Order: sequence, then C-alpha cells, then structure tokens
Amino acid sequence: MTEAKLEALLNEGRSFAPSAQFAQQANAQPSIYAQAAADPVAWWKSQADQLTWTTTPTKSLEWDLPFAKWFSDGTLNASYNCVDRHVAAGKGDKVAFHWIADAEGESRTITYAQLQKLVSQAANALSELGVVSGDRVAVYMPMIPEAVVTMLAIVRLGAIHSVVFAGFSAEALSSRIIDSDCQFVVTADGAFRRGAPSPLKPAVDEALASCPNVKAVLVVRRTGGEVDWKDGRDHWWHEVVDRQSEEHVCESFPAEHTMFIMYTSGTTAKPKGIFHTTGGYLTHVSTTYRLIFDVKPDLDVCWTAADIGWITGHSYIVYGPLINGATQVMYEGLPDSGGRDRWWKIVEENKVSILYTAPTTIRTLMKWGGEHPAGHDLSTLRLLGTVGEPINPEAWMWYREHIGGDRCPIVDTWWQTETGGILISPLPGITATKPGAAMTPFPGISADIVDNDGNSVGNGEGGYLVLTQPWPGMTRGIYGDPERFKETYWSRFPGKYFAGDGAKRDKDGAYWLLGRIDDVMNISGHRLSTTEVEHALVSHPSVAEAAVVGASDDTTGQAIVAFVTLRLSAEDATGDQTAIVEELRTHVAKVIGPIAKPRQIILTPELPKTRSGKIMRRLLRDVAENRSLGDVTTLTDPTVVNMIAGLMETKGDSDD
Ligand code: WTA
Repeated sequence: MTEAKLEALLNEGRSFAPSAQFAQQANAQPSIYAQAAADPVAWWKSQADQLTWTTTPTKSLEWDLPFAKWFSDGTLNASYNCVDRHVAAGKGDKVAFHWIADAEGESRTITYAQLQKLVSQAANALSELGVVSGDRVAVYMPMIPEAVVTMLAIVRLGAIHSVVFAGFSAEALSSRIIDSDCQFVVTADGAFRRGAPSPLKPAVDEALASCPNVKAVLVVRRTGGEVDWKDGRDHWWHEVVDRQSEEHVCESFPAEHTMFIMYTSGTTAKPKGIFHTTGGYLTHVSTTYRLIFDVKPDLDVCWTAADIGWITGHSYIVYGPLINGATQVMYEGLPDSGGRDRWWKIVEENKVSILYTAPTTIRTLMKWGGEHPAGHDLSTLRLLGTVGEPINPEAWMWYREHIGGDRCPIVDTWWQTETGGILISPLPGITATKPGAAMTPFPGISADIVDNDGNSVGNGEGGYLVLTQPWPGMTRGIYGDPERFKETYWSRFPGKYFAGDGAKRDKDGAYWLLGRIDDVMNISGHRLSTTEVEHALVSHPSVAEAAVVGASDDTTGQAIVAFVTLRLSAEDATGDQTAIVEELRTHVAKVIGPIAKPRQIILTPELPKTRSGKIMRRLLRDVAENRSLGDVTTLTDPTVVNMIAGLMETKGDSDD
C-alpha cells in the first residue's frame, strides 16, 4: 500500500465492521458488555464456574487494595483443568498439539489422552526428584512438547514454575533462580535454530555455579550434543521420566495458591518476579481465549506463534487454549527456518484457523514480501491476533490483506505480564476494528485514561492507561517484594493500577496504545529496561558511563541505542573503535542475552547531563531518532549533544 493510500485510510477513520458470519456464530454476543458491566464481579464468577473445581468457590472478590483474592475458598488443579477433564469428557483422542520441528518433515502429534500420560509421568518423575507443593522449579527450555508437559507437571504438583526464556544468558538465568530460590531446573541439551543445534546445557551449568541450592536438573535430550554432566545433580529426562507410571492422581489446591512466576523488566536493573495464582488466572485466560479468539474446539486449529518463555506462551499456548480443549500448532523454529514461506506452509498443511503473533514478526514477514503467503492456501484462517507492542496501521493492513484475505477479523490485544491475560481488545463478532487500535476494554475490565493528576481524559485526548478495578488474572505481586509492588503500580495514581503505557481514546472512544512512557523498552515485543542494559555495559571494565535509549525501528518497534564513555587514555581513544564497540555488544549479549544486544553503540567523551547531574535521556532519544534537539538550556554543556549527534552521523548502524 502506498503512503498516500494509507494516509487516506487513516484520515477517513476507516473501520472494518464485524463480519456477518462472526456476528451470528461468535462465542461472544453483544449483550455481554452490558451483562458484565452490570456486575463485573458476578460476571467473572460466572466465568469461573466454567472451570472444573474440586470445591466450588462461594467467594468471588476480596479486595484489600492493592491485594486481591479471587474465588479464595475454591480448590482446583490447573493441570487437571487443562488435560484430564477433556479426557474424562470423552475427548481423549482429540489432538492437543501438532508439534512441528525446526527441520521440515519432523513433527509429533499429541492427543489429550497422550498428554495426560506424559504429564502424569513427568509429575511422577518430579516427585521422585523431590519436588513438592510450593517448591519453585526453573524451566529453561526450547519450544518442544516437553516444555509444555513440564509446566503442566509442575503445577499439577502445586509447585511453582519460573520459566526463563531460553535466549537469556547464564547470568540472567542464575539471577532469576536465586531471586525465587528455585531448587530444581528443567532444561534440554540444546535447541535447533535454522537447522543448526545450539547448546543450552552449558548455560545452565554456568548459571548453577552460583546457585548452590539447586538439587536436581532434569535434561531433555533434543540435539544429542555432548554435555557436561554432574552426577547426582543431573538426570536425563528419558531415563527418569519414561519409566514412570502413566497415572498420577492429582491433588487440589486453593484458588490463591501460587502457580507461577514470570520475570519481567521494570524500570530498574533488577527484573521483577511477577507471580500469578491459580483460580483467577485460569478464569481470566480461559475466558479471554474463548471470547476474543472465538475458539470452537471441534473446528479450529490454533497457533499462538510465541515462545513459552514469555507470558504470551503461558497464557495463550499453555493455559488458555488447553482449558478450552483446543487443538494447537506448536512450532520450534524461526519464521524462516527452511525458507521464508515456512509459516505459510505450516498454516496450509495444518489448516490453521486462528493465528496470534506480534507486530514485529508481521513487519518482518511483510518485508520478505507478499509472494510468500500468496504461494499458499491460507483459506482456513478465520481470525488473526496481535500482541506485544503497538501495531502500525500499515502492518495491520498488510496482515489483513495478505494473510487474512481481507475477511479475517484482527484482534489487537493489549495486556502485560502483570495483567495475566488480555484486558483491551476487540471482540470479533461485535467490535468494528480500526487499523492500529486495541479498541475496547474486555467485558468485566475497568480501564481508563488519565492526565497527570489522575483525572479521566475525554474522547480525543491522550494520557496514562490505568485500571480502576481489580480483575481475576491480575498479578498478586512481585515475588518476595510487596513494597515494590505497591510502589511500582499503585502509587503514581493512588488506588489505580498504573500500566506504564501511554494511550489515547479517539473521538469514538476507541483505545489506541501509544507505547511505554517509562524507561522500559519494547524490542521485538520483548520488554527490557534501559537501566538493565546500562548496568550490563558498565560491568565491562572499559566502560566509565553508559546511557541507553529505545529508538524507534521499522522492524523491531524499538531498538537499543547506547551512548558510552570509555575509561581510556587519550591515545587509546583516538584508535580504531570498531573492535571495542563489537566487544561491548557481545558483552551485553553475554550478561543479559542476545535480545539485549544494542543495535548501535556510540562512543562519546561525555554524556549530556542536567545541572543536577541527571543524564538527559529524552535528548539522547532525539539524537538516536534523528530529531531536532529542542531545548537544551538546562544542560551543563549543550555542545555535548551536538557533538554526539555529529558522532551518530559519522557512524553507520551495526548490521545485526
Ligand atoms: C506492550 C506482553 C500496544 C505494552 C503480553 C505493555 C502493547 C507491554 C500491546 C507488556 C498492544 C503489549 N498494543 N502495546 N496490543 N500488547 N503491549 O509484559 O507496552 O511482555 O505494557 O506482555 O507490551 O509486555 P509484556
């Protein structure tokens, strides 16, 4: 689409009406908003009643701001709700997962009955290794079926999983293991990426050198590569799990029993251990999956193209779809493993009907060209979703035209690790959608946009996104740090949950998300804090000072640009700086993980600071995005900024 056409489209305020087919058959009917608004707590309770409870709750919400409890006198088992109840209902032969390997031709189909056996064996194995209710178990795994089996086995025992994205470094893994005192780790020898094995176990070994409390490590053999082995601590999955009984009778746990921890970046260097409890979280993710994705378990094939190492994988690969008894595709590889049309082959071959992914991936697929999807039959698709960052209208339109054949509704879903599940999204049979807007708070969700003083803004105005009432899937806090929870989310606007996102309501009242307003960056839909990357940089012996900003980027949404001053002598500083820049980029990848590698590092003799000594990040962002520099009168040395801008112009971007 040309710029002019896009512009015209947006100026028209164009919206796409819900399709007639959806309007008649959708799981959510228009009356749902009024029903939920009349009594949100009772409405959520009616959703909770669709789970299988061992003890049906009589309580709904207990609210001691900012600490919520939902359905607290009920008991249930998360794993039973995802797996066993479908088998008990006679759906054991239904496919839970079509797992597709990185390499073409390799796949595995797992029915609900088989999943029940695998999860039972894994639960028996974890029990044998000593895992009991309340224990924390770190999971550091690639996208293989055992990752899902492991998560379900852990919660089946009432233990708590802390899944760490397998792209994080050994250091990032160890700090997460230590923070929540995990005594067990489940991992794999390695993973496959574009046909090549990439080892994982060495990072675990390195991490565990500083985690003396870890008693046992369970290792899936995926690549067959050589691994170091610590007898007594390390156990092969195939030796311990495969010999277990395929039966495991599960216990029930209170609704407020902690289910998992997911670390996410905040505005400080230390990631926060966001934790979720069982009954409310499961209610939220299963309800949103059923209503927003309109899943019809007997007809649909669902594909959430995310990694289980992030919240999207937890809520919409594992818990939401499985509770609904959905059939899913789970894919191990990269979008171009085996060719740039790999995704579309997967959609065609598996008759995928519901696809959920991130704008950054859509932009990459778009860059590769429309001929790749055009070469495949995508007619089975009936609903498309996006998550993780604001989607630009151009990508939205490409998704609609080239993937959705101009017929599939798009649900742009706004939510966070902390919210557990989706809070703002269109409903496919009901909401007319606008390219780039997340549209409407979900039924039972009270969102608002407020100004600096916390007053609600009118239509057509922007401000800060807040939530004014608790919801079932909301985080119960930061693991081990209730004070930080209060301060981070509940103090900016007392009594309201502060999301950290800017948003506006257009003249029709539709919600548009405008990106983070704090020091959290969003790189390819992954959250990273500027401080985290700065800390990684200054941990290098050559670095004196560093300032990091997220600069807008056509593909990744934002990209990391770092301004660094070195501890070098005058002669060294005049030498070739390419080598040190490369070394610093690699260093950041080593400390945090490859996703945190700065796109660009600018070496500068000084950083711009205010008179009180604060680094002026806004100015650096302007420099990084080539904007005019505006008012620099509060700088100690205004010439510094112009000098940095000059340095940017003389240095090209890094290539990866
Ligand atoms: C951003 C991911 C605009 C937002 C599920 C939020 C979005 C952060 C959207 C949470 C969206 C997520 N439109 N921005 N549809 N979805 N975000 O915790 O800035 O990894 O605060 O959760 O991603 O990222 P997280």
